Amino acid sequence: MVLRASHPPVILGIESSCDETAAAVVRGGHHVLSNVIATQHDLHERYAGVVPEIASRAHIERITPVIRQAMERADVSYGDLTAVAVGNRPGLIGSLLVGVSAAKALAWSLGIPIIGVDHLHAHLFAGLLDEEPVEFPALGLVVSGGHTSLYILRSPLDVRLIGHTIDDAIGEAYDKAATILQLGYPGGPRLDKLAQLGNEDAHDLPVSMLGKTSLDFSFSGLKTSLLYAVCGQPVGRGSDAALPRDASMLTDVEKSDFAASFQRAAVSAILLKVRRALKTYKVKTLLTGGGVTANSRLRKELTDLAKARGMDVRLPRMAYCLDNAAMIAGYAAWKYEAGRFDDWSLAASPRAAIGV
Ligand code: KG4
Ligand code: ZN
Repeated sequence: MVLRASHPPVILGIESSCDETAAAVVRGGHHVLSNVIATQHDLHERYAGVVPEIASRAHIERITPVIRQAMERADVSYGDLTAVAVGNRPGLIGSLLVGVSAAKALAWSLGIPIIGVDHLHAHLFAGLLDEEPVEFPALGLVVSGGHTSLYILRSPLDVRLIGHTIDDAIGEAYDKAATILQLGYPGGPRLDKLAQLGNEDAHDLPVSMLGKTSLDFSFSGLKTSLLYAVCGQPVGRGSDAALPRDASMLTDVEKSDFAASFQRAAVSAILLKVRRALKTYKVKTLLTGGGVTANSRLRKELTDLAKARGMDVRLPRMAYCLDNAAMIAGYAAWKYEAGRFDDWSLAASPRAAIGV
């Protein structure tokens, strides 16, 4: 294996954990030279969710052109690459395997190191891309379609999970709420937009606390409360139970009031646990990542909180909120500097890493 003397490292990142096929080239862990994302939303829209078999097939078709495009846009040659990084966990196993296989083939043929990266840890570092470095210790918050988690980071490679959702992820709850309100897929961004027009106090939807000290999250109760508020309580029993109404009977104003009330409750639940964590852990920085960091209200509330406490908050630029490969390559630079490479036995896993 060649360990190129190039410093800072130029890393090609590959991401295929769910329904985006992505490749990016990042220099020195934060300078993004290219960031290519091929989304599959059109393929999954009619099923209102990601179909794993369709996703892995689409990754196979797209991975090579996406990598080629990332290299072209970065204007670097394969010989300039220091390492290849790949998101190898957590995610859909068939989708992850496509990225891992492509990364192995490329790194092996170039004779350079391969670095496997936990997708969730990478989300936490998306706010450092194209930005200045941060100070540690940091509190980390991942809010995405599949995960809602809090971490304490004593350093970039010392990542410890301190809380997570016990049922739905916040993005999943947004997507389901959008389905209840008949807003289409993917629902999160559409619900966020509609919420900005509504009255957040119109409906008293629940903010889950899970007791007085827990740092875990729960969103299924909020989702069910919205369902019954919009569609009414089920009539009948067992498999014959039916909901008396649906969102097609709502006016635009009524819909936006439901959206705003849902958004208030969902974002309040996140802020509640971030505040709780800050009581226990003294940190200098709040690192955030995942698709829901694109949410207008969450961005504002986290910015206000950090300002009030004199803390540095990193909300990723919009291009790096959703799944992307720049964050994979960015985080891999920390592992590269520490000499934490993988070998050809690197495996894909549906589960998140424990620790690092
Ligand atoms: O991180 P991501 O791309 O994929 C996962 O790793 O899960 O996150 C996608 C999620 C979806 O559930 C989507 O609805 C949600 O992020 N999302 C939003 C917004 N933009 C994307 N949720 C609320 N408000 C938004 N503006
Ligand atoms: Zn993600």
